[in-house]
Amino acid sequence: MEIGIDKIAFYVPSYYIELSELATVRGIDPAKYTVGLGQNKTAIIEKTQDCVTLAANAAKQILNTQLINEIDLVLFATESSVDESKAGSIFLQSILNLRKNCRYVELKQACYSSAIAINFAKNHIMVNPNSKVLVIASDIAKYGTNSAGEPTQGAGAIAMVISKNPSILVLNDDATFICEDVNDFFRPTHHDVPIVDGKLSTETYIRFFQTTCQAYLNNQKLQFNDFAGICFHMPFTKLGQKALLSLTQEEKLITRYEYSKYYSKEIGNIYTGSLFLSIISLLEQDQSLQPNDLIGFFAYGSGATGEFFTGRLVPGYQNHLKKSYHEALLQTRNKLTIEEYENLYNHQIDPKRYHQNVIHIQSIENNVKYYTK
Ligand code: HMG
Repeated sequence: MEIGIDKIAFYVPSYYIELSELATVRGIDPAKYTVGLGQNKTAIIEKTQDCVTLAANAAKQILNTQLINEIDLVLFATESSVDESKAGSIFLQSILNLRKNCRYVELKQACYSSAIAINFAKNHIMVNPNSKVLVIASDIAKYGTNSAGEPTQGAGAIAMVISKNPSILVLNDDATFICEDVNDFFRPTHHDVPIVDGKLSTETYIRFFQTTCQAYLNNQKLQFNDFAGICFHMPFTKLGQKALLSLTQEEKLITRYEYSKYYSKEIGNIYTGSLFLSIISLLEQDQSLQPNDLIGFFAYGSGATGEFFTGRLVPGYQNHLKKSYHEALLQTRNKLTIEEYENLYNHQIDPKRYHQNVIHIQSIENNVKYYTK
């Protein structure tokens, strides 16, 4: 039985800042952010949103009544949780009218938990072939104003439906993985922002890519030119590129990396969703991919886990993408000045409280938003 991604969409909040403007205000050469890190803009969360509302907006783009009746498992991957106990996915039940005879859980291991979520979804479908699984990856990446991590912030959510006979990508059974107890990035309970060892984090990321990708190629007896493209978790777009170039100079992969980073460089790090933002970007922006092309995926979560897995493109996958919605979402965002961003950042409502105030979704074509009491 073939199992994989049947539907996929992302949602980002409607505010952003220009990183060149942030650099100027911070007294830094803008090229450090735009060239050194490879980022243009950062998505900024609105006061009325959290990881649940971001997730609901993403899921709205791919759900319909029939699907809602078929989904019997909702997996919510996040490290921006609104509750220490209750799963973020349960809040989605009432917002999205999901079934009650359905399982709802939340998964955590930094940015990696979305990768294991699609693996769990696949295993669930193997024993329940007619079920559909809703996988959410939703996060708000915050490091603090004036911090080293500030240019690598971001916010957004991915929603995916995993099913048999998928329309977009068939997942293979070939993952290679590594986990080491590394303190590169972690956020102890009640800390608003993570404790980060930036250098250790980038070194561990590249080392884990090298280890898992080489193991994959050895196990499968494949070479880099067997891939049509490789998608990366992208905390900033320069890092995936550095990891890729550390192992191969394959031209096709370098070109396709440019397509895969198209949305990330305009949004920033969305943690659990970042890897899947990269595949959406590749599929929507590259017009030269072919059915059955092999796509590699490198998932990374600080702490630290690395995983390399692959999928094959399904013929006609282009007809199941949301390109015009995604492009409109990015084009209609509002730019904040750095002062407006700082004010918003310093006056965020406690995310553990405000999600319960959500009263309804006002669905305007290509512009779904939440309103609070
Ligand atoms: P930094 O230490 O201030 O930056 O912050 P830097 O000094 O390393 O410079 C960055 C790059 O810009 C360097 O490029 C500079 O040379 C270049 P490199 O040498 O590495 O190729 N540069 C310039 N380029 C052009 N013109 C200039 C210029 N100046 C410098 N004028 C750091 C960078 C990433 C450490 C910081 O932003 C940070 O701490 N970010 C948060 C942590 C992070 O994103 N780590 C990534 C790996 S960990 C991960 O992916 C997991 C994560 O998503 C969390 C999770 O799993 O949950 C974060």
